[in-house]
Amino acid sequence: MKFAPVLGSLVLFGVIVQIILGFQVSAGVDELIGTHILIGVVGLVLVLVLTAMAFRSKPATIYPKIIMVILTLVVLVQIGLGFQLLNGADALAVSHQANAFVILGLSVLIGAITMKAAKKQSNASSS
Ligand code: HEM
Repeated sequence: MKFAPVLGSLVLFGVIVQIILGFQVSAGVDELIGTHILIGVVGLVLVLVLTAMAFRSKPATIYPKIIMVILTLVVLVQIGLGFQLLNGADALAVSHQANAFVILGLSVLIGAITMKAAKKQSNASSS
């Protein structure tokens, strides 16, 4: 489980970068779209790995599992929306933007849960 906080931080960092890039792209900086797509797809892979880790960890409550499943679905929807935006479905930009903040919220939440769990673990091993 040592990698979970590292991967989780990476996802959180990536989401923040994605939101900044997204607004740049929609403001007309077209060169950034490739990076925006790449980080989106790499992010999905990281989220899948984290989800697998959440399911394999024993002591965890049900919450991380539920949140990771929701996060995976929301990221999938976001990538779907992104490709539709690329195909010219401009009306979906609002959903893509709103979804971005849902992803940010869930990433912060899962980060908080992971940190709490790590703290508990290190307390348990030091006492
Ligand atoms: C976790 C992944 C992603 C996040 C958090 C994210 C976030 C954002 C945000 C905040 C915007 C600005 C929206 C606006 O101004 O209305 C944006 C724009 C955009 N995103 Fe993403 N995005 C993600 C993944 C993707 C992917 C995978 C694609 C393409 C396959 C994509 C394609 C686009 C496009 C084309 C725009 C410009 C929309 C426009 O013309 O206004 N995004 N993104």
